[in-house]
Amino acid sequence: MEVVIVPDAKAAGELIAEAMAQLLRRKPDALLGVATGSTPLPIYEALAAQVDAGAVDASKARIAQLDEYVGLPTGHPESYRATVLRQVVDPLGLSEAAFMGPDGSAADVQAACEAYDSALVEAGGVDLQLLGIGTDGHIGFNEPCSSLASRTRIKTLTEQTIADNARFFDGDLSQVPRHVITQGIGTILEARHLVLLATGEGKADAVAATVEGPVASVVPASALQLHPHATVVVDEAAASKLKLADYFRHTYANKPEWQGL
Ligand code: PGA
Repeated sequence: MEVVIVPDAKAAGELIAEAMAQLLRRKPDALLGVATGSTPLPIYEALAAQVDAGAVDASKARIAQLDEYVGLPTGHPESYRATVLRQVVDPLGLSEAAFMGPDGSAADVQAACEAYDSALVEAGGVDLQLLGIGTDGHIGFNEPCSSLASRTRIKTLTEQTIADNARFFDGDLSQVPRHVITQGIGTILEARHLVLLATGEGKADAVAATVEGPVASVVPASALQLHPHATVVVDEAAASKLKLADYFRHTYANKPEWQGL
């Protein structure tokens, strides 16, 4: 995988937004896989700024969601559907019709998972999938020891993830759903380009295990090592435990400009 070390979260957001803009210039109806959480917000802000400035036309873009809580009432502001509509779909000037995601309120969750996996294939597959990383190494909500071949399915959150996400529920752990639907690791690996962003010192251990550790389901993000086009963008703090940081800096500084991310 390619590792790109940038000074801070703003620079990361601009770099990844530019890669998304380049994709949209090549393929205006690209299917963009988006992630929730705090980390990707600078990407969405930078991409919306490009759209507002007329630097890219996102009017035909399609947006696919990575994961969703199970059991939140429809329209709950912290459901990932509502979050992605608020943070990505609306700012890009898209309509809800451009959005696809798993149905976390379905009576038959298993059927909803299978339907979402099929819908992604029928939509032509994800062109660029943004990923965050949990402090426990998860991608999407594929918690440690998720099968590297997994498909979209229901998962139980770890106590660590519940604690990490309580900030979105007024700090009240009891309000955080215990179950989620997540694209599986096998599903995620089918996207044409994976872009994982990690910022802050709290992610440094997970990033080091992902990039320099063995491929192992105990670190789900390490599955990116199996993908032919995976980019890991990290700020200096998240890169602080990478032994090969200087090598990654050297490689990226000498990369031919035309290659892009
Ligand atoms: P965060 O979440 O961006 O809010 O840290 C990342 C994740 O859990 O994947």
